[in-house]
Amino acid sequence: MPEAEERKSLSDYNKSYLLKRFAREYLKPKVASYLPVQLLHVIGALAGLVPPILLRRLIDGAIPSKNLSGIMTISLWALGTFAVIAVVRIICNYAGHRVAQSIVFDMRNDIYNHFQNLPMRFHDNKTTGELMSRVIDDLNLLQEFIHHGPEGFLGGLTNVTGVVVILFLMNVPLTLIALSFTPLLGIFAFFLVRRMHRAFRRNRRAKAQLNERLEDNLAGMKVIKTFANEDYEMERFVEKNRGHYRARASAIKYFSTLGPVSYFLNSLGLIFTLGYGGYLVTQGAMSAGTIVAFYTYLLRFRAPILRMVQISQRLSRFFASMERFFSHLDIKPDIVTTPGDFKKPREEISGEVAFEGVNFTYVQEEDVLRDIDFHVPPKTTVALAGPSGAGKTTMVRLLPRLYDVDSGYVKLDGVPVQDWNIYALRDAISVVMQDDYLFSGTIGENIAYGKPDIGIEEIERYAREANVDEFVEKTPDGYETEVGQRGVKLSGGQRQRISIARALLRDPKILILDEATSSVDSYTEKLIQEAIERVSEGRTTFIIAHRLSTIVNADEILFIEDGEIREQGDFSELMDLEGRFYDYYKLQFENPDVTG
Ligand SMILES: Nc1ncnc2c1ncn2[C@@H]1O[C@H](COP(=O)(O)OP(=O)(O)O)[C@@H](O)[C@H]1O
Ligand SMILES: [Mg+2]
Repeated sequence: MPEAEERKSLSDYNKSYLLKRFAREYLKPKVASYLPVQLLHVIGALAGLVPPILLRRLIDGAIPSKNLSGIMTISLWALGTFAVIAVVRIICNYAGHRVAQSIVFDMRNDIYNHFQNLPMRFHDNKTTGELMSRVIDDLNLLQEFIHHGPEGFLGGLTNVTGVVVILFLMNVPLTLIALSFTPLLGIFAFFLVRRMHRAFRRNRRAKAQLNERLEDNLAGMKVIKTFANEDYEMERFVEKNRGHYRARASAIKYFSTLGPVSYFLNSLGLIFTLGYGGYLVTQGAMSAGTIVAFYTYLLRFRAPILRMVQISQRLSRFFASMERFFSHLDIKPDIVTTPGDFKKPREEISGEVAFEGVNFTYVQEEDVLRDIDFHVPPKTTVALAGPSGAGKTTMVRLLPRLYDVDSGYVKLDGVPVQDWNIYALRDAISVVMQDDYLFSGTIGENIAYGKPDIGIEEIERYAREANVDEFVEKTPDGYETEVGQRGVKLSGGQRQRISIARALLRDPKILILDEATSSVDSYTEKLIQEAIERVSEGRTTFIIAHRLSTIVNADEILFIEDGEIREQGDFSELMDLEGRFYDYYKLQFENPDVTG
């Protein structure tokens, strides 16, 4: 399917492309605040190089010559240096995080907006969790990296280079000896950090699996209990939990080793500084202050090196997140390629619908609808009947362009839906789905969905039409009652009536009710039935009925089987025909559980 394919293959997202694109689209607008922060990282690192020099001056100069004003001057320098470091850190932390956050703010808006403009075909193939990771996890990671990456790298590089230069200026032979162990430190850190990151990656994967299992089981607790499958589920849970435990334990092993061993390797250089440096001082070849300064510099050598190694290892995660971000952003919404510009005022839309030679597939090679042809005059009620999987839901999805036809035309008022302005088109149509989603919020908010200015009188009016008032009035909070996630606190029938009220409030020209009475008892069905009869008045209505009793009164019935219209006519015509619909209807009466 064309729109679900990524614009580029993943190998096109190489690192330089990603960096350039990131710089062009997101960094450039923020460069005026981003660059100064980077400069400050360097200044902070440079300032950090000053204190050991002051120490050396104190020990070698001011103390032996008992120069009190010299001591005073050195102290003031120290004060100045530390003040600069403190101020720079505050600004870097604050401004650095802030600018990184504002960059990610833009990215997050872009990706969400992109997701909601992508066609249903895209969403059919993605889980909520997967898309949430794109919007939340990946971008959180990028945000951390946008700030801490350059900070650690620029700061570390300045630090290490500065220390090496200063050491060489102070004493070349001692520097050579003291730094001879640094490559060892670097190599050790590189390999251990690499293993550690792999272990952390395994850990993340194991954690995701554990999460998935947990979420699944908690959501399906009712099924677990009724099937008395606690032991079986416990075993499955323990397995995932153990996987997580092991992965984490191995990551912790590396993590725990890294610090102490790198500390020890670094201290080898320090030991030689003390030994050989001490010898040089006794020979008068070096001052005591130089040893102290050397020692202090070397002590501070380890952290920046480790940090740079860590950052280089995290780069791959950073690029992977960026690649996922841009590759998702590049998925083209094909519906926008033919946006259409036909519009007419809502009141002038007659609600005449026609399908002409419509063919449709979700996945290639699997026909779902074949040669669908029919015409619906304005303000009539059409019922779609037929076995489950016949293609009824699919037919009505084509009207608001949740999906686009492969060939043929779906027309509203004689104009193909592709030529309609998509917002005008969808504004004229309301759909009540079998499992319509209620957002968290109150019942009133759900009825007024997308129209926050609607007053309570209006909400109550449509609620009455959809027989929502019948149960809302029994709740203490009325329309202020919270629905809860996925509307768990309401029964299926109550949710469906809220969906109907929500659809009605838009006063649609075309109303589509897809099995709107599927999960209700017969009393509620009667209420919904009444509601439907009331509201189908004066609009074109499509009813996909779960129970055939619902469709007896329709102006026209389309009997759908295997993606084709098998029979067409009003109820008595189809009964007289004694064909497929007749059989189906009889079956339904004898065995009311066989459903469409
Ligand atoms: N989003 C989808 N992706 C792929 N196949 C789908 C999708 N939705 C429905 N189908 C398939 O299309 C066929 C028709 O489904 P549907 O229109 O829901 O039937 P009905 O509403 O008549 O029960 C079924 O075979 C179903 O498996
Ligand atoms: Mg269906």
